Amino acid sequence: MTGESAEDPPLFALADVSQERGGREVLRSVTLELPARRLVAIIGPSGAGKSSLIRLLNRLDDPTSGTVRFRGAPVTAMPVRALRRRVGFVFQSPTMFPGTVADNLRAAARYEGGAANAPRAFIRFTVGVSTPAPGSDAALGALLESVELDRDFLARDASSLSGGEQQRVSIARALATMPEVLVLDEPTSALDPEVAERFMRTVARLRQEQMLSVIMVTHRLVEARQWSDATVMLDAGRVVEWGGTAALFDTPREARTRAFVQSAG
Ligand SMILES: Nc1ncnc2c1ncn2[C@@H]1O[C@H](COP(=O)(O)OP(=O)(O)OP(=O)(O)O)[C@@H](O)[C@H]1O
Ligand SMILES: [Mg+2]
Repeated sequence: MTGESAEDPPLFALADVSQERGGREVLRSVTLELPARRLVAIIGPSGAGKSSLIRLLNRLDDPTSGTVRFRGAPVTAMPVRALRRRVGFVFQSPTMFPGTVADNLRAAARYEGGAANAPRAFIRFTVGVSTPAPGSDAALGALLESVELDRDFLARDASSLSGGEQQRVSIARALATMPEVLVLDEPTSALDPEVAERFMRTVARLRQEQMLSVIMVTHRLVEARQWSDATVMLDAGRVVEWGGTAALFDTPREARTRAFVQSAG
């Protein structure tokens, strides 16, 4: 894999993107570039449009107007499955498919990738070790271990897992297609602070090991500040400001950002 260079197009570029949902404009003329290989936090009050924005990245929705580009190409120019293999998405409340944890992991690889993609998906987890057959218990176990869950979980009924465990399985499921990007919608909101911290450490480690780019919506400002490289502040469907996380929190340019980040103390 080649490194990112300054001339590479940004991971995502949104140009004058507006979005209507239920007859209301929930994103208003959003223009934004999200860099690769970083953890980008998206913050803002409830209803600001954070979830609406990230749903455009792997075409869960399409904007009413404007263009979303992924590595330079409009997302509408590539098959949606190919896009979703490359851009993994983890929802705010993890939804497990019926069946075991193993069933959940297999279903993701099958749905998003199909057999052709599966071998690549598991190579990353077995560097230096003989590569287990795609979809085998050994491969799925490696996937689970990458999110710090014991292999014993494979046989567990997915609906019997705790919220934190389901959140980890959701990430493992997203990783099954070997994405370049992980998009996370408030992944820690249902977790207690200790589990949330462990979860963020896992994300940080995966970023390093797998050269993942991460885009994460969070309402925990402390978390955004601690873990992200860049932050986007949204309010009422508009980008208020965005930039390096330290600068945005310490010396915000906009009064709205200042008020919001100070509200968290
Ligand atoms: N399916 C929908 N139909 C109509 N309006 C919607 C729909 N989904 C979201 N909205 C509205 O769009 C606006 C933005 O919603 P969005 O979910 O993107 O906000 P958010 O920033 O993610 O908020 P939260 O922090 O509460 O998750 C809200 O006013 C919401 O009520
Ligand atoms: Mg949301």
